[in-house]
Amino acid sequence: MTQRVNVFICVSLCLFAGVLSLFSPVTELSVSLNGKWRLSNSNGSLLLPAQVPGCVHSALQQQGFILDPYFRFNDLSYRWISLDNWTYTTTFTVAPQMRVKQKVLLVFDGVDTVASVSLNGITVGKTDNMFRRYDFPVRDLLKDGDNVLEVSFMSPVVYASERRKASSYTVPPECPPDVQKGECHVNFIRKEQSSFSWDWGPSFPTLGLFKGVQLEAFDILQLVQVSSVPLYNSSDSHWKLQVELHVDAVQTASGQVTISIPELDSEQTFQTQFLPGKTKNSFTLNINTSSQVKLWWPSGHGDQHFYRLAVKGFQDGFLVLNAESKVYFRTVELVQEPVAGSPGLSFYFRINGKPIFLKGSNWIPAHSFQDRVTPAVLRNLLQSAVDANMNALRVWGGGVYEQDVFYDICDEMGIMVWQDFMFACAMYPTEDDFIQTVREEVVQQVHRLKSHPSIIIWSGNNENEAALATAWFNITVAERQRFLKDYVTLYVDNIRKIVQEEDQSRPFIVSSPTNGAESEQEGWVAANPSDPRYGDVHFYSYTLDCWDWRTFPRARFTSEYGFQSWPSFSTLQPVSIKEDWSYDSKFTSHRQHHDSGNQQMLLQAALHFKLPNSTDPLKRFTDTLYITQVMQAQCVKTQTEFYRRSRSEIIGGLGQTMGALYWQLNDIWQAPSWSSIEFGGKWKMLHYFAQSFFSAVLPVGFEEDETLLIYAVSDLSNDLKLRAVVTVYSWSDLDPVCSLTSDLQLVPEGSAVPVFKQRVAALLAGCGRCSRLTCLLTFHLEDDGGRQQGPTNHHFLSSPKDAEGLQTANITAKVQQDESGFSITLHSSSVAPFVWLDVGNVPGRFSSNGFLMVSRNRTVGFSAWRPTSVAELSSSLTVTSLTDVY
Ligand SMILES: *[C@@H]1O[C@H](CO)[C@@H](O)[C@H](O)[C@H]1NC(C)=O
Ligand SMILES: *[C@@H]1O[C@H](CO)[C@@H](O)[C@H](O)[C@H]1NC(C)=O
Ligand SMILES: *[C@@H]1O[C@H](CO)[C@@H](O)[C@H](O)[C@H]1NC(C)=O
Ligand SMILES: *[C@@H]1O[C@H](CO)[C@@H](O)[C@H](O)[C@H]1NC(C)=O
Ligand SMILES: *[C@@H]1O[C@H](CO)[C@@H](O)[C@H](O)[C@H]1NC(C)=O
Ligand SMILES: *[C@@H]1O[C@H](CO)[C@@H](O)[C@H](O)[C@H]1NC(C)=O
Ligand SMILES: *[C@@H]1O[C@H](CO)[C@@H](O)[C@H](O)[C@H]1NC(C)=O
Ligand SMILES: *[C@@H]1O[C@H](CO)[C@@H](O)[C@H](O)[C@H]1NC(C)=O
Repeated sequence: MTQRVNVFICVSLCLFAGVLSLFSPVTELSVSLNGKWRLSNSNGSLLLPAQVPGCVHSALQQQGFILDPYFRFNDLSYRWISLDNWTYTTTFTVAPQMRVKQKVLLVFDGVDTVASVSLNGITVGKTDNMFRRYDFPVRDLLKDGDNVLEVSFMSPVVYASERRKASSYTVPPECPPDVQKGECHVNFIRKEQSSFSWDWGPSFPTLGLFKGVQLEAFDILQLVQVSSVPLYNSSDSHWKLQVELHVDAVQTASGQVTISIPELDSEQTFQTQFLPGKTKNSFTLNINTSSQVKLWWPSGHGDQHFYRLAVKGFQDGFLVLNAESKVYFRTVELVQEPVAGSPGLSFYFRINGKPIFLKGSNWIPAHSFQDRVTPAVLRNLLQSAVDANMNALRVWGGGVYEQDVFYDICDEMGIMVWQDFMFACAMYPTEDDFIQTVREEVVQQVHRLKSHPSIIIWSGNNENEAALATAWFNITVAERQRFLKDYVTLYVDNIRKIVQEEDQSRPFIVSSPTNGAESEQEGWVAANPSDPRYGDVHFYSYTLDCWDWRTFPRARFTSEYGFQSWPSFSTLQPVSIKEDWSYDSKFTSHRQHHDSGNQQMLLQAALHFKLPNSTDPLKRFTDTLYITQVMQAQCVKTQTEFYRRSRSEIIGGLGQTMGALYWQLNDIWQAPSWSSIEFGGKWKMLHYFAQSFFSAVLPVGFEEDETLLIYAVSDLSNDLKLRAVVTVYSWSDLDPVCSLTSDLQLVPEGSAVPVFKQRVAALLAGCGRCSRLTCLLTFHLEDDGGRQQGPTNHHFLSSPKDAEGLQTANITAKVQQDESGFSITLHSSSVAPFVWLDVGNVPGRFSSNGFLMVSRNRTVGFSAWRPTSVAELSSSLTVTSLTDVY
């Protein structure tokens, strides 16, 4: 963790009171300019107060000029906002102490995006990149009394299109597909790429000061940033800490810097000289060999221990720098080496020397308006990830480099982050000013983020190697040469080079998906970046039967895969009206940004389920929302279980899969998407399924050649002895028909081992009165002490739509409250698949949901995210199971 250290001088001021200001000129003052500014559009027809940090859309909504931008079709109605130019203005006074400082900087932590900044009528600078921090020297422009600061934003849409016009050649794609209802040429502007629309999100090209603004004044020097990365030397088992002080100095300053981690009995003092201007000053702290260093581990593999790092700088005996930050120790290696019995190379992560299977999903921006992404929103989503037994998230390259607090929480929770640079699904320009602004962006982001142990890899872009290799955008052979050159210029010669200079502590890959080392061999763009023998793979298929694991590539690592579903009715209701509530309404088609998405969901669902067909239109709609979630949960479960059980095997040269990150964790608005968590934080059925299919110990059942196999998958660090217990139920009866148990098998740490194998026909015959159509299986794992390990799983022997004997379940529910919280006790009249509890808009989550009920009674907990009552929960609660939609 690093923090910008604005307060460092306070310590010395507090300690030495007035004395210091007399004898030491080295003090810093910082004045926030956040708060209420004035905002106007280009012709002055709109003039309103606007909060900073914030954005134009948020200000217009807060002042009642527009309604909720997410309501119904407002993304189209409010398109004009991003086509206009807007000016933010504030007036402030500065204390005389500030103006006598040697340097006064006007600092913007985030400007979205293209703006011109003027102070008291004089232009002080321009901005063109929302991923950069900007500072401008303004000392001589400040005056007594009122100072007027103006930030004039140009429409990002107009800017992108002007840049496109100025380009000597087309840089595709020109525009997003029509179904996305977005704006064009987003690749020409260094801004959140999905803000011009995506296949899961609306077009809201924001404008504004979305992070803080302040004046910072100092004499001699200012500490802008401290970063630290631990490096481990395995040949002498020795840790070092590389500490960098990013300093802005007015003049040469000499003195001592003391760096220490008291808890590790490690302290060193360095004589140093800070040169004028912005400099990076590196120090290496040797960690005391007699101290036992406690490591940071990914969630599920150990604790996330941290130490306090103290940095103090002295000049002439006075404390002039004082910073404290957290340090976590861990190593990361991306292992790409030959695999026995297989062509190609492995692709897996070793953390602290231990191979770790990455389980998780992909992160997109949590809101179109970044100013509304609060720490509470981030914490809730990240907690939901960990609660679903995820240990990794990929911060996808079409969004934003997340806020510091995002990575702080990931550090704290043990979530490994695959960090993309913000380039996605496009070719990019390489004009000199574009490259220059990207270079500054990369340097700043690496400095800001590299102290976080959670970040385990940098990745240059999303899918641009694939786009080039497989000729998306219909580029010609001649154009391909040019774009290949541009690709290498941007990602290899600039971004990769900078990252390798700035951070030796973690791997860098150029793209995702990529063949990694093999792509490099092939000149950075492989013939087939999706080759399952190398690197990572993104795989989507909506037409193939997702219950058939044979349709999935047995990849080394799958960093994207998934299926869409609709969010629940309570999430859609606040942004829609009655006429929208049918699957073929204008609204339903408007919110779907993926071509044929709504039809694809039904086609996939219809392979195994009867589609809802109620005569009540509202019921038919909510039943359809439900069935899309059932389909999605079951599809992603099947695919993820396939990857997890493939971790120890090589079959036909493929396998040793070591990562499964499905697309996508969260949503940006209330719409159909691949997410497992709805906008607002509500868990879809998929997220409850993830809690099981990502559990540390998991039984996976599947069929091959009419034979049922059960694998025991274990991510634990200790060996287990496990057996499978299979229970056969008839669809028509809550009492099991029979049950089978396998012999105990050794399941070594970090492995997947077959523990049960039997032909289905023999199994059913042995059980009596059972056929594929009348029966289904549940199974779990037991250890040598007879204790269940991992969740209970199920396997359907036929599609539920063909099931014989499945009755309409009558499920009654009773809500109760005791000292441990709320619980719901269910009673069912018969076997009920996909039992779904919903308490509407009462925020919170159940202990489990979407489950197969094969018992008469079952109790489920509910943790509420705000105060509620038995009465409120009882009146909000609905219970749906599969037969309710028939
Ligand atoms: C001023 O701009 C607004 C917003 O773009 C527009 O609706 C309005 O018609 C303009 N007014 C004049 C007088 O041009
Ligand atoms: C916005 O500013 C650009 C660049 O100065 C200008 O070309 C454009 O006409 C302006 N738009 C409006 C609506 O004033
Ligand atoms: C690691 O330790 C060995 C043995 O002390 C030493 O020879 C080597 O230079 C060290 N490597 C680095 C990168 O410091
Ligand atoms: C290492 O720690 C021990 C106490 O644990 C201390 O006596 C020693 O001075 C330390 N060495 C260094 C180089 O700081
Ligand atoms: C590419 O070409 C194919 C066939 O000519 C066409 O169907 C498709 O729409 C084109 N795609 C784009 C993005 O231009
Ligand atoms: C829906 O129900 C009607 C009768 O209520 C029936 O005629 C029709 O075939 C059903 N459609 C589907 C797709 O099941
Ligand atoms: C459902 O079960 C409850 C309690 O067991 C019973 O009171 C009710 O009549 C049943 N409803 C139906 C439709 O069978
Ligand atoms: C199951 O629930 C029913 C109805 O709530 C109750 O009568 C019965 O005692 C419960 N059975 C068990 C085994 O808990």
